[in-house]
Amino acid sequence: MGNKVIAIDGPSGAGKSTIAKELAGRLGFSYLDTGALYRAVALALREKGIEPEDSDEKIASVLKGIAIAFKDGKVFLKENFQLSTLNSQLPDGRDVSEEIRTTEIGHYSSVFSARKVVRDFLLDVQRNAALNNNIVAEGRDMTTVVFPDAWKKFYLDASLGERAQRRYRQLKEKGAAITEREAEKDVAERDVRDSSRDIAPLRKADDAVHIDSSVMTAGEVLENILKAVRTDH
Ligand code: DC
Repeated sequence: MGNKVIAIDGPSGAGKSTIAKELAGRLGFSYLDTGALYRAVALALREKGIEPEDSDEKIASVLKGIAIAFKDGKVFLKENFQLSTLNSQLPDGRDVSEEIRTTEIGHYSSVFSARKVVRDFLLDVQRNAALNNNIVAEGRDMTTVVFPDAWKKFYLDASLGERAQRRYRQLKEKGAAITEREAEKDVAERDVRDSSRDIAPLRKADDAVHIDSSVMTAGEVLENILKAVRTDH
């Protein structure tokens, strides 16, 4: 018997991270934020000067030299070519959990995530996370591609207006200079890109439970999910 996977997909700003983290805590599962993995890849590619229109070969040559890991709610970027002394100081690699949270990296993660070479690179990282642990995994293709046989599947949605508001408040809290209009434009652009790409686009799996969180508190969403998880079928 494999480990249990609770897979949650949904668009940007639907509240997946908050819910998935809390759910994992309540059930004693590990939490896997796959958006953070795509963001770490985007950061690594940008640091190596990769542009969105660059070839697969160029992207692959950067990916060959890095490793990405998600551990205890944090994402680590390891460059295989780091000096050995630095490696011994940072055995897990660099903790990039904060750096990846900018709107710029959000944008590039969405752009680079449309590339097969990037998605293939992260497939094992994601599946390996479930080898030794029960996990709550959230992203865009957890229920459809990465864990199609997941124990429980959810699609967490909310209206564009509500998601833009949440994103705006989140970025404001961090001191980002952003207007409500810019936040809405950013979320709308990502919706289009993440759901219209050719490989693993965001869509609701037929067997996923649909939850619209537009008029629900995070607590209510969590209770709904817990109820569905506890119903054994
Ligand atoms: O959830 P997030 O905003 O941190 O994700 C950043 C980007 O990564 C998102 O716009 C699309 C991409 N992504 C993806 O393609 N597949 C996933 N499973 C998770 C994220």
